[in-house]
Amino acid sequence: MIILKNDTFIERNEAVIDMEDRGFQFGDGVYEVIRIYNGSFFLLEDHLTRLQYSLNEAQIDVDLKEHQMKEKLIELAEKNSVEDGGLYIQISRGVAPRNHLFPAEATATIFAYPLPLKKPIDQQKNGVKAILEQDIRWLRCDIKSLNLMGNILAKQKAKDSGAYEAILCRDEDHVTEGSSTNIFIVKDGKLITHPKNNLILHGITRKYIQFLAEKLGIEFVERVYSVKEVLEADEVFLTSTTSEVTPIVEIDNKKVNDGQPGPITQKLLEQYDQYLH
Ligand code: PDD
Repeated sequence: MIILKNDTFIERNEAVIDMEDRGFQFGDGVYEVIRIYNGSFFLLEDHLTRLQYSLNEAQIDVDLKEHQMKEKLIELAEKNSVEDGGLYIQISRGVAPRNHLFPAEATATIFAYPLPLKKPIDQQKNGVKAILEQDIRWLRCDIKSLNLMGNILAKQKAKDSGAYEAILCRDEDHVTEGSSTNIFIVKDGKLITHPKNNLILHGITRKYIQFLAEKLGIEFVERVYSVKEVLEADEVFLTSTTSEVTPIVEIDNKKVNDGQPGPITQKLLEQYDQYLH
């Protein structure tokens, strides 16, 4: 496997991260997961725009254009002959003696490598189970930060409960998103999802679903919704780069509607591949 480390391509066994890398010690960095279908990147510009946003908000001094990141990622995918899969890219504030304060001088550590991603065909066909879980994360979930402790604790709890995803809520009146996905509910033919603010990641797939909904003439509503609304929804589904659109058919052991993937979810799923590039 070929890895992009800073501005050079190296072999997997040469890809070593320093003990004092701030990404390793503080989770002081940001990341992206980008999908590749049939050898072409999916929504690459959107991912790079969000990565630059995360860098700016985290005050990590990296200009992706200066690094020719787009061209580098395309080259990385080619070097690894990625046909169907993805890339992981991570940028930390760099290496410095341990201190919470930003180092006066540090060069960001950039690395990227291929991820073996597959379409979640069975989950999309049958739907998945979810649990409801308190959202214990920080208040800047719009930054795609390496600090994922709140997310992984929730995801593991879902797994341990026999479920695929944890639907997070700040309180009973406020569902935010999934532990690694955005959540949508369908009620009376309308698509409802959390507004784009500091409490959720502004999902690239979420944006793509907005585009598909407009094409299909489905009303797209961005507003806060409650746990009760999720449990009484006609349909519930999750979205992410890796899960695409996946129906949620059971929440906390209660069926969503009749416990089958719903018609609007299925329509979005059918349309998903139509505009891939
Ligand atoms: N997860 N919300 C959270 C908390 C996420 O971590 C993700 C993505 C999403 C969906 O975003 P997008 O549609 O841009 O992938 C929403 C990635 C895939 C991950 O951490 O692996």
